[in-house]
Amino acid sequence: MRSFLHRYAGLVILGIMAISLAWIMPGKAQNQDEGKLQLGAQIFAENCAVCHGSDGKGRVGATLAKDWPSIRPDLRVKTTIENGVTGSVMPPWGQANGGPLTEEEIDALVYYILSWQTGGPGNSMSNSQMIRLFWSST
Ligand code: HEC
Repeated sequence: MRSFLHRYAGLVILGIMAISLAWIMPGKAQNQDEGKLQLGAQIFAENCAVCHGSDGKGRVGATLAKDWPSIRPDLRVKTTIENGVTGSVMPPWGQANGGPLTEEEIDALVYYILSWQTGGPGNSMSNSQMIRLFWSST
């Protein structure tokens, strides 16, 4: 027994380290996604829901909860948010265009909006979480 331990202790420790790393890593990534999603949801509720509806289904503004017919919907949505839509009430939000939102905030918004796509990123936030976030920010 003693010699077995001596021989394999290193391997066992390596194994335990590998397993715990594998355990921690996806959890970390998921927390980051969750944080981004929550930030996006909050900014959306504060700035966009008036026109686009709290669920993105559209009011004065266009429906955002949809599948975007674009190869890079993220770029398309991001550019629209940054620049606004000329000739409509959709204002530019990017700071480069005199808007209030930082690059990071717009990225979170894009992430949140695209989560409404079928199979979009970060569909993991539960409805009750979103509702709580929405009410806590109004
Ligand atoms: C004052 C009302 C208003 C507000 C506030 C507003 N929007 Fe809009 N938005 C519009 C309107 C109207 C359009 C449709 C413009 C058009 O194409 O004629 C639009 C279009 C868009 C589009 C493009 C939709 C498409 O199908 O191409 C995106 C993306 C968008 N808005 C995101 C946002 C985000 C994100 C916010 C919050 C930061 C926001 N909007 C705030 C009115 C608004």
